[in-house]
Amino acid sequence: MLLFLLLPTVAGYGLSITDEQYYKLPPLFSLDDYQPCLASSGGQYCLGSFHLTAEGDNQVYDVLLELTNDLKNFNHTLLHRGYCLTSRCLDIEGSLPQRFTACVDRTLSQEYGLRATLHRLDYCKTGDKPRTRQIDNVDWIFAAVAIAVLVLNGIGTLYDTFRNQDEKPNRFLIIWSFYSNWNRLTANYEDGDDRLSALNPIQGVKALTLLLVMMAHTTFSYYTGYTYNPVFLETHGRNPLSYFFYNGSVIVQTFVIVSSFLLSYNLLLHVDKNPKKILGLSMLPRSLMHRLSRIVPLYLFVLGLASTWWSHANDGALWTPLVEAEVARCRHKFWTQALFINNLYEPNTLCLIQTWFLAVDMQLYVVAAVLTLLLGRWPRLALKLFGAMFLASVAGIFAISYKWSLFSILYSMTPEVIRMQLTNQDSFNYLYTAPWGSLPASLMGLFLAFLHYDLEKRGFKANEHRWLVMAYRLSVPSMFLWVFAGSLFQQFTSPEAKAIFTALDRPVFVVLVSTALFGFCNKIDELWWKFLSWRGFMILGRMSLSVLLFHWSYNLSIMGGRLIAAQASVLEIGGDWMAVIFLTYVTAVPATLLVEYPLQRTLQAVFG
Ligand SMILES: *[C@@H]1O[C@H](CO)[C@@H](O)[C@H](O)[C@H]1NC(C)=O
Repeated sequence: MLLFLLLPTVAGYGLSITDEQYYKLPPLFSLDDYQPCLASSGGQYCLGSFHLTAEGDNQVYDVLLELTNDLKNFNHTLLHRGYCLTSRCLDIEGSLPQRFTACVDRTLSQEYGLRATLHRLDYCKTGDKPRTRQIDNVDWIFAAVAIAVLVLNGIGTLYDTFRNQDEKPNRFLIIWSFYSNWNRLTANYEDGDDRLSALNPIQGVKALTLLLVMMAHTTFSYYTGYTYNPVFLETHGRNPLSYFFYNGSVIVQTFVIVSSFLLSYNLLLHVDKNPKKILGLSMLPRSLMHRLSRIVPLYLFVLGLASTWWSHANDGALWTPLVEAEVARCRHKFWTQALFINNLYEPNTLCLIQTWFLAVDMQLYVVAAVLTLLLGRWPRLALKLFGAMFLASVAGIFAISYKWSLFSILYSMTPEVIRMQLTNQDSFNYLYTAPWGSLPASLMGLFLAFLHYDLEKRGFKANEHRWLVMAYRLSVPSMFLWVFAGSLFQQFTSPEAKAIFTALDRPVFVVLVSTALFGFCNKIDELWWKFLSWRGFMILGRMSLSVLLFHWSYNLSIMGGRLIAAQASVLEIGGDWMAVIFLTYVTAVPATLLVEYPLQRTLQAVFG
């Protein structure tokens, strides 16, 4: 953090204009106080964005253009305003949007000699109209479902409390017992299968990765709202350390690797333990049901919540564009989300931006399951094939990237694009969140599973191979270096160079993560194994799905619920990050215990 704060002073980078010039410009964002404005029944408040133009020579406009043409800045010819029309421009007549536009135009023209035309109207509200959408039938349907789930939990828990503990419990009722689910969440499989407990560090990796995801999304949320000092984001966005933010999303590939690794490894172990079974495609439906029953119940619950009561939860100047609009999109896309095709269908309509991962993960799960079931009987052959397919997928991404000019997210991450939450970005829609973009990671997960399984059978000891130990020790620092290297690759502007980086970006990271995971799970060093297998991480790691699903809603709620523009600073963003971690885990505990586990166990009991 210190480094981040000190670097600008030491390295002396910043905007091309002086602070004095900057503050003479019209502010990029400006919000009138929201609550007092709408408190009276005659209160009128409008929010929208305006396109600026200048008539004739205008020095202010020239500076705005200069800033705007540097893509590391926001677009300063696009201003964002929230005006309380009860106390501004009372002499202007017309409808609310007309008055709003005329008022912004007049203010800018008087102060700077600039003209403003409405670019996008977010809303105009009055104090006597209800703030949010009325509670409707869909809201009540969700409420009924939530209450039913609670009641079932109550019944199961009461049953468990008063049952005869010596007798075998009823298998459907016990599923809904709080105690039973609590034990599951906090279980310690130390005396279980050695081969499985060797994988404990994976939970630590998942938990730590999610903390970083929350940090990135908190920073991200500051771009989507109105900031009082956008210059902070513009200055620090030039800090080389910011590349951990621009290029760091590659870390999500870890989850793709882990997911296909666990799928494949568990299938291999399953056959190992039941020698009569042979891997074959006939096991696919079961394998898919298993996955669906783990993800779907909680996912639908969170989607339901995000499509209904979330919009009534709070209010603020940005509640309508950030939260209510998202709720409407979630309603619209509910079925595509439930079918895990939300990344392919209407990709510009985003409902919970992070759920692209669940869609990609499910799509690749099918691929990974089919490959494992087909090739599981010939592990050696499978290893060669997976290696070849990995390289082929990298070449494929290069081809796609070059042919359609779809590049790594690194090249898209400008303040203006982040402000728009990456909507209308082809690279985001057709590469970043598309299944083929994560295919190398999935194949690497398979490769790792077969390798680990095969080596274990042969009694391979990773510690005895110096080069492996070396590779492992270098892997984690190299991950950071690789993400940071984005700052070098961003200098390349030719399509060939960009396509090469795009093709290598995720795969190189994937190879590094896999090396690290291999080392962790083979206990190359005891200390890291112990740290990542810490009991606390086991519990946090098991709540990963909940955390993934809930955290972004808190990010948006914090931003949307603000009554005045947000101040951006390292401590404010860091503080919000801490708040989001805390709120997310506090939500994740009941969500996991009362919704995810019992529903998952019910589905598994029904479909066997
Ligand atoms: C800034 O926004 C305006 C729309 O108001 C657009 O016409 C212009 O191309 C944008 N500038 C840049 C550099 O993106």
